[in-house]
Amino acid sequence: MTLANDKTDLTLSERDARYLLPHYTNLAKRAKAGGEVVERGERVYIHTSRGRRILDASSGMWAASLGFSEEGPVEAAIAQLRRFPYYHYGLDKTHEQAVRLAERLADLVPIRDAKVHFATTGSEANDFLVKFLWYRNDALGRPQKTKMLAHVGAWHGSTIATCSLSGIARCHNGFNLPIPGFLHLTAPNHFKNARPGEDEAAFVERLAEELESVIAREGADTICAMFVEPVGGAAGVIIPPHGYYSRIQQILRKHDILLVADEIITGFGRTGAMFGSQAVGIEPDAMTFAKGFSASYVPVSAMALSPAIHDGLLAGSDKHGFFAHGSTFAGHPVGCAAALATLEVIEQQNLIENVRAMGARLGERLAAYADHPRVGQVRGMGLMWAIELVADKQTRRPLRHPGATANQLSVECEKRDLIIRNLATGDTVAFAPPLIINAAEVDDAVDRFDGAFRATMDWIDARGFAD
Ligand SMILES: Cc1ncc(COP(=O)(O)O)c(C=O)c1O
Repeated sequence: MTLANDKTDLTLSERDARYLLPHYTNLAKRAKAGGEVVERGERVYIHTSRGRRILDASSGMWAASLGFSEEGPVEAAIAQLRRFPYYHYGLDKTHEQAVRLAERLADLVPIRDAKVHFATTGSEANDFLVKFLWYRNDALGRPQKTKMLAHVGAWHGSTIATCSLSGIARCHNGFNLPIPGFLHLTAPNHFKNARPGEDEAAFVERLAEELESVIAREGADTICAMFVEPVGGAAGVIIPPHGYYSRIQQILRKHDILLVADEIITGFGRTGAMFGSQAVGIEPDAMTFAKGFSASYVPVSAMALSPAIHDGLLAGSDKHGFFAHGSTFAGHPVGCAAALATLEVIEQQNLIENVRAMGARLGERLAAYADHPRVGQVRGMGLMWAIELVADKQTRRPLRHPGATANQLSVECEKRDLIIRNLATGDTVAFAPPLIINAAEVDDAVDRFDGAFRATMDWIDARGFAD
């Protein structure tokens, strides 16, 4: 029997073009060509139906932290599916996997006596948190304290609130976003945002003054929280200057504004510390997690909340008689089982040590490009690295048609069976390989990158993009 949707005369790519509305892509182009079908993976490599074995140095979407063939979370998910495939942890019920994972996470995070709440995606975790912080302020009798701060260039998600929170114009355009009440501050990107001759200390002070003046303009009684990525991912692997967060946090505390660390990329080892907050000196009031939390094998996300935030939620629940928030898949037992197994792999395989060692190796190999006249900066931490291309090294003048060259570089990498991330902001490309990567695989990635880099430099010259 042929099922109604079994179009056996068409390839999967053709069926993709016909039936799927894809994301993060040019829709017309994709509708013509269809997507390339990924069939399986092994360690840091994916295999496609075109017979290609591609080294994915972007871990999917900064996501597959254990690569594409780690048994631990797979076995745990299957075992949990067999034990019981679904239940929630709301109303008067709970389940073992949610309890164990909450306990484990509460032990790990740099928030004392944290409470854990689960969701399904990174966007959802951030979105729920925005809602919770509003609810808390309402319960505390200050319902007008709702505005959210974030950085220009930061990415916090795709929902209406989290895309508004994000500072990427390309993702707002046409979607009627951002909605009011989400304000964006200069990113702590010294390379791009420092004035000529401004050292890091002076830059930090200027950003601190900007924050103070936004608070003075808006009124501290209207600002709820600031969301930050400890190391900016989509913004171009932005490593904050020394002392930035302690200075910012001092100001926020003075005005009773919370600091939220979006650890959706940086959590669970990516920066060479368990959490990015620990790597850059943030003492968060709340944190959000997804991606590397379960190595992305099963969707699961979470937030960790300080007791002060939790007390506010309790007060809200008392006020209304019910905490009227929930979601069907939150704390899904299969996701929780996969996340528990992922945390076990991180510990047993000593992956944070591996991130430090392999990050240092990747950084050393990429440093070889730093002197090239079109390379503005090579920067990174742990297994997050970026190369920013410019027209003029001294003045940091951008290349013509910003974004076109980074796109070309990623196309040249694809030709050599390498995936790197071409970032939405300017001509920057990022490496964020799975945390399990070994030395031979790091070398394989950079060897493939080398040809792509040279071809792209010729392409820039041929087009006069640096003139
Ligand atoms: C820092 C950060 N926050 C939030 C998100 C949103 O997560 P998700 O795509 O799972 O909704 C992302 C996704 O790339 C991210 O990088």
